[in-house]
Amino acid sequence: MKRVRTAAAALLLLVAAAAAVWLPLRRGSPLPAEAATEGGSAAVGGAVYAMSCSHCHEPDARGGGCPDLRGMGGAEPAFLAAWLRSPQLVHATSPMPRPTLTPEQIRDVVAFLRSLDTR
Ligand code: HEC
Repeated sequence: MKRVRTAAAALLLLVAAAAAVWLPLRRGSPLPAEAATEGGSAAVGGAVYAMSCSHCHEPDARGGGCPDLRGMGGAEPAFLAAWLRSPQLVHATSPMPRPTLTPEQIRDVVAFLRSLDTR
């Protein structure tokens, strides 16, 4: 009985390890490490936004065909950071491509988004 349980535990571990390796690979490149959400620079984040986001969400963040981000100032920093690590981790079928940002850039973009008018 003990052997069966040990074998089952080993199998579970193997499946978990395989999933841990496979899931990030499936998305192309490893996810940035969990980003800190406080202390970012809104100015630097604004520059990152201009380069990486404005062609979809408009330079003034009003959205165009994409969500208007001007109301994002009141959003939870943890939600924004998770979204910027991978929209699909928050919302599996999200059409927004995963941004390729470093943890520092994520922190800065979060500061920028939180500086936007909450209307
Ligand atoms: C290729 C176009 C595209 C780019 C580039 C893009 N987004 Fe998006 N974004 C979208 C779309 C489309 C949605 C709506 C996704 C959904 O509903 O799942 C979205 C949703 C969001 C949301 C969630 C809004 C909500 O109401 O929940 C945030 C926040 C956001 N984007 C921020 C950004 C930031 C910051 C960047 C740059 C790092 C960025 N996006 C780059 C297309 C884009």
